Amino acid sequence: MRSIITYLGHAAFLIKSEAGEILIDPFLSGNPNSPVKPDEVNPKFILVTHGHGDHLGDTIPIAKRSGALVIAPFELGTYIEREGVKNVHTMHIGGSFTFPFGKLIMTIAHHGSAVIKDGEIIYTGNPCGYVIKLKDRTIYHAGDTGLFMDMKLIGERNKIDVALLPIGGNYTMDIDDAVYAVKLINPDVVIPMHYNTFPVIEKDPEEFKRRVEEETNSRCIVLKPGESY
Ligand code: NI
Ligand code: MN
Repeated sequence: MRSIITYLGHAAFLIKSEAGEILIDPFLSGNPNSPVKPDEVNPKFILVTHGHGDHLGDTIPIAKRSGALVIAPFELGTYIEREGVKNVHTMHIGGSFTFPFGKLIMTIAHHGSAVIKDGEIIYTGNPCGYVIKLKDRTIYHAGDTGLFMDMKLIGERNKIDVALLPIGGNYTMDIDDAVYAVKLINPDVVIPMHYNTFPVIEKDPEEFKRRVEEETNSRCIVLKPGESY
């Protein structure tokens, strides 16, 4: 079976792998563009990049219902456990662990990480990205991040088949920086994310695609929410 990546809008993806479904940053009920509701997904694993509401999203109720293993940076994972999720695996930047779906590496991301609960800010440590080494594909989900030079290291140490990169600007890289990131990572395919959900991150993914294909050696696939690669 070949792995299938389905875009769920914003930074949320569902990967169907041989070892079960892997859900990343499930911001579903709060996202009007989401093609699925939180009770329509049945992941075995949920990967969370940071505590912001548009990434932690529906992780806690989905994990409680489905029993999925939640994987997150240590501080965020500890928060999720304290919210009553039993099955949590915490990691930290630069660490890797082999799960049933393959080896997972937690990477840096330049951003913040906090949960806003009852009007209070609860800091949840460092944000992250993930390199996911499935049997047939290596996928890099950058999380929310600005451009950083170590993306070159990520691409040199791991042959990235598919890179999922934010292009929306304001909170993360914009199109210009994301095109440069593609040059550093050198993936076969790049899929843009984290744009057009809110007015401040409105961007044209077709402009990103055109520039990637003119200026880099990678292909760009623009997925609408609900579409798969
Ligand atoms: Ni964020
Ligand atoms: Mn975000």
